[in-house]
Amino acid sequence: MSVDNAIIENYTSAGLYDRMIEVMGPGPVTLDGLAVVDNLHVGGRAATRYLMENMTLTDGMAVLDIGSGLGGPARHIAYHTGANITGIDLTPDFCEIATRFTVAVDMQDRVSFHAGTALAMPFADQSFDAAYTIHTAMNIEDKATLYKEAFRVLKPGAQFGIYDITCGDDPRDPEYPLPWSAVPQTSFLVTVADMAMLLEMAGFEITLRENRKQFALAALQRGLAEGSTGPGPRIRGGDFATRVANLAAAVADSRCAVWQIICRKPA
Ligand SMILES: C[S@@+](CC[C@H](N)C(=O)[O-])C[C@H]1O[C@@H](n2cnc3c(N)ncnc32)[C@H](O)[C@@H]1O
Repeated sequence: MSVDNAIIENYTSAGLYDRMIEVMGPGPVTLDGLAVVDNLHVGGRAATRYLMENMTLTDGMAVLDIGSGLGGPARHIAYHTGANITGIDLTPDFCEIATRFTVAVDMQDRVSFHAGTALAMPFADQSFDAAYTIHTAMNIEDKATLYKEAFRVLKPGAQFGIYDITCGDDPRDPEYPLPWSAVPQTSFLVTVADMAMLLEMAGFEITLRENRKQFALAALQRGLAEGSTGPGPRIRGGDFATRVANLAAAVADSRCAVWQIICRKPA
């Protein structure tokens, strides 16, 4: 099986949409209800909000979400900034579910999702005013191409926001499974220094680099406290609590680190 197919398999599971509806409970689908189930990264909606607040995203901007998942970050950012968001994601099921929920909250005019790889995006050069990527580069070995593609589709002066997991200062490997990968073969962590170097090689200027360890640890501990009855395990299945526990342990002893980086394509 190819690496891409193994990654798609990691995220695809029959009945996902129905389980998300079940966890949200009865009543109409709302952005607040969705927030419990549609942000697939450490810290959930609070982390999305933090990234949004550290970027300048305004009404009518064309913004790209690279690795858009179930669409939580895109809907949240579009709602709060007025930006038009285009998501691209490798997992077709996620794009389909992201679209269903976007229609359910009547945001389909401003938020859309495309199935495809971040390494060859079907978008014209200089077509976006800003871009961001959340917890996606961990699944992508060829980060040089990822960041070159982001650079290509951004207009001069545009911001690129990143919230990602990297290797930490402790060189030991984390235990698997992890939330983004059951096995080491589909996980591609680099140090934050290497990530910054790859971004600069693509042409970006880094304007902010922030270690989010304490925020991430607190969020992971809350997830662990919910045990197997929390939204993550109910939606993502049996071993999700183990995946979160492995990540919490790796962040705690700095085998993994959680970073926010904001950069800019020179004007
Ligand atoms: C942990 S999820 C994060 C989703 C979303 N960014 C969020 O925070 O809610 C990682 C996502 O990256 C996507 N992904 C992995 N490799 C990709 C690639 N080469 N191109 C586009 N998306 C990719 C996966 O399909 C998955 O939806």
